[in-house]
Amino acid sequence: MKTEIAFIFDLDGVIVDTAKYHYLAWRNLANSLGFDFTKEQNEQLKGVSRVKSLEILLGIGNMKLPDEKKQELLIKKNEEYLSYVNNMTAEEILPGINNMLDFLIKNDVKFALGSASKNAPLILEKVGLINKFTAIVDGNQVTKAKPDPEVFLLGAEKLKMKPTNCVVVEDAIAGVKAANAANMTSIGIGNADTLKEANYVFEDTSKLTTEFLKSLIN
Ligand code: BG6
Ligand code: MG
Repeated sequence: MKTEIAFIFDLDGVIVDTAKYHYLAWRNLANSLGFDFTKEQNEQLKGVSRVKSLEILLGIGNMKLPDEKKQELLIKKNEEYLSYVNNMTAEEILPGINNMLDFLIKNDVKFALGSASKNAPLILEKVGLINKFTAIVDGNQVTKAKPDPEVFLLGAEKLKMKPTNCVVVEDAIAGVKAANAANMTSIGIGNADTLKEANYVFEDTSKLTTEFLKSLIN
């Protein structure tokens, strides 16, 4: 008998192209504090919660700030980020994703969202995908950020699936680590060197074909 599997998708950088907006908002914040923040350094922030991201950013800038100031900066970053998110449309769904989700629905394969973002429901609403997911786990529901496996384990629970039968699609190092720590199969989207801990890596979402999904399902 074949084993049923389910998928858990990260949001930012996998379903939608919001990773660039996060980067823009963090870079502008860094610049306003007087230091630069490169795309390479941004890899450390991918998949990481908003609060932890600020800690990493301030570490890069060699800055120590009082909690009150940090709260102010977190609000400022999110306000800029939301100004981009509010203009989002379905056009910002990454290549191949619509096709892939429709393929999974057609084949009765369940899938959930497993995102660190507290803005995830708003983004899914904006791009018209909110009703396609069997379950949604976002940054409002977890206490431990990726690379902790909590977000994916909760996703498996909501899907009523064993972790070993779940496949995670992730663009972040922290997310791949979280999937591995949850004993799930990990698919990385991005650079193969950066995501070397993933079980499979595809350069971008268009390369993750329904043929490949079929091979995992069967
Ligand atoms: C993750 C992103 O999906 O969500 C991170 O990769 C981001 O870059 C994190 O910091 C939290 O997002 P938000 O929307 O709650 O600030
Ligand atoms: Mg991501």
